[in-house]
Amino acid sequence: MLYPGSYVDIAPSFVFDSVTYLDIDTRAPRFFADTNGVREIVDDHEGPSDPGITFIHADYTSPLDLPEDHFDLLVSLYAGLVSEHCTQHLRVGGTLLVNPSHGDAAMASIDPRYELTGVVTSRDGNYKIDTTGLNTHLIPRKPQTITAARLHETCRGIGYIKSPFAYLFTRIA
Ligand SMILES: C[S@@+](CC[C@H](N)C(=O)[O-])C[C@H]1O[C@@H](n2cnc3c(N)ncnc32)[C@H](O)[C@@H]1O
Repeated sequence: MLYPGSYVDIAPSFVFDSVTYLDIDTRAPRFFADTNGVREIVDDHEGPSDPGITFIHADYTSPLDLPEDHFDLLVSLYAGLVSEHCTQHLRVGGTLLVNPSHGDAAMASIDPRYELTGVVTSRDGNYKIDTTGLNTHLIPRKPQTITAARLHETCRGIGYIKSPFAYLFTRIA
């Protein structure tokens, strides 16, 4: 799994075997350099016994020294237009998990490489994946044409009629 703009959110390693974290902030490499501290946090949770944790200190808008068509999961949470810059590293058939902040869910919704295949809902701290009624999602409250240019300009999410925690898009091309 690839997590650009992760900062120090290592929650994915509570679940996934192998995670590549990436962030431009100078505090993030310091956090990940403390491998014992990171392990301690991860070991406090049930999950893979010896997860692979890689950190890359980089700007995801620049070319990344990472394989193309490779990762199973790309995560974009509160970190800008990750999908626009990093989709080439996700394999076709892989999943983008993206929340609506910063307009990245909207960007994915107009990206022909993606198809909406699920939403993640949250209630009382419990998260569920829903794959039904997907055509009722991503409908803006205010009718508007969503374009990449507009999303670059505003860097803000679109207000949708329904507001799940996050969206799951499958890379189809
Ligand atoms: C609001 S934090 C979100 C952190 C984490 N995703 C979370 O949900 O807790 C946004 C992070 O994205 C990082 N970020 C923003 N633009 C970036 C870029 N172009 N390249 C790498 N990291 C970036 C920032 O440094 C910051 O750590």
